[in-house]
Amino acid sequence: MALYSDVVMDHFRNPRNVGVLEDADGVGEVGNAKCGDIMKIYLKIDGDRIQDVRFETFGCGSAIASSSMATELIKGKPLSEALTLTNRAVAEALDGLPAHKLHCSVLAEEAIKAAIQDYYERNGIPYDAALFPQESSHGHDHCCCASETEAC
Ligand code: FES
Repeated sequence: MALYSDVVMDHFRNPRNVGVLEDADGVGEVGNAKCGDIMKIYLKIDGDRIQDVRFETFGCGSAIASSSMATELIKGKPLSEALTLTNRAVAEALDGLPAHKLHCSVLAEEAIKAAIQDYYERNGIPYDAALFPQESSHGHDHCCCASETEAC
């Protein structure tokens, strides 16, 4: 069986929503300290809905596919729904990721949350801090890179 599903390969080769939104209402950037991969999410928000989304990911193929799928999953959705998106849901939508690559999808979940949190802070909108990950939880302890010889 192939290591990566057809869906992962499709989103890796033809990532959706790549780029920058110059007039973004919220921007979130997260990184994995061990592998050095970085994901940045830009949100355009209209009312309580994600009107548009773009991403820039400097990272492995799984991180790129996860970013692409995650942006597709939240586009047009209310913020409350985007906040419930889990990395597991992203991985499932990709038809699975190898266990040692699951942490790459964590970056997508956290970058989206960071962008929404940025939007709330820019606009002085009160929010429940418990909904957002703390700095120390960015999947560092799950990173595969330290033990892998192939490039991420
Ligand atoms: Fe670092 Fe995938 S995000 S290996």
